[in-house]
Amino acid sequence: MPRGGGAPVDVRIALGPEDVAAHHRVRREVFVGEQGIFSDDDLDERDDDAIKVVAEIDGVVVGAVRLYPLDEAGLWKGDRLAVVRGARTSRVGAALVRFAVATAGEMGGRRMLALIQRRNVAFFGHLGWSILGAESDFHGQTHQEMTIPLAGAQREMAPDGYVWALDG
Ligand SMILES: CC(C)(COP(=O)(O)OP(=O)(O)OC[C@H]1O[C@@H](n2cnc3c(N)ncnc32)[C@H](O)[C@@H]1OP(=O)(O)O)[C@@H](O)C(=O)NCCC(=O)NCCS
Repeated sequence: MPRGGGAPVDVRIALGPEDVAAHHRVRREVFVGEQGIFSDDDLDERDDDAIKVVAEIDGVVVGAVRLYPLDEAGLWKGDRLAVVRGARTSRVGAALVRFAVATAGEMGGRRMLALIQRRNVAFFGHLGWSILGAESDFHGQTHQEMTIPLAGAQREMAPDGYVWALDG
C-alpha cells in the first residue's frame, strides 16, 4: 500500500509499445535530464533483451527498472531504477525493486546484483540488500555493488564459486 493512503502503485512488465516507450521516457528523464549520467540517452546493448518494468500511478508511468540474467547459473542484474522526481517517496522505488527481485526469482534466479549510487545504499539496505566489495566509479559517480538472494536460490545447485552468493 502506498504511504498515507495515496493512489495504489501498479508495477508490471512493459510488454506493449506504450509501456516500453514510457519505461524509456522515465529513464531518460532521470538519468539524462536530471542526473546527467548519460548525455543523450541511456540505452545500451542490454536493452535488446532485458526485462523492462514500469510503475504506474493514476494512469501515468512514473517509475522504471530493468533486469536480465548475467549467466546460466542464476545470477541476475537489476539496473536503471528510476522514479520521476514528482513521484518520489511514495514507495514506488521500493515496489519496483521488490518486483524486480520477485520476477528474477520466479525465473529461476538465485542471486541478484546491482551497482548502487552511494546515496541509495541505505535505501537498498532497507529492502534487504547487502553490500558486496568496495565502492567504484561508474560514469563519474561513486557506486557500491549490492546483492540479494532470490527465490530460486538452491544451495545444492550452486556451481563452484557461487556458494558465496547463496548465503544470507
Ligand atoms: C532511489 C529512488 C529510486 C527511490 O525511489 P522512491 O520511490 O523515492 O523511494 P521509496 O518511496 O520507495 O522509498 C522506500 C523507503 O526507502 C526510503 N528511502 C528512499 N530513498 C532513500 C535513500 N536514498 N536513502 C535512504 N532511504 C531512502 C524511503 O524513505 C522509504 O522509507 P520507509 O519505507 O521507511 O518510508 C528514487 O529516489 C530515484 O529514482 N532517484 C533517482 C535515480 C536513482 O538514484 N536511481 C537509483 C540508481 S542506484
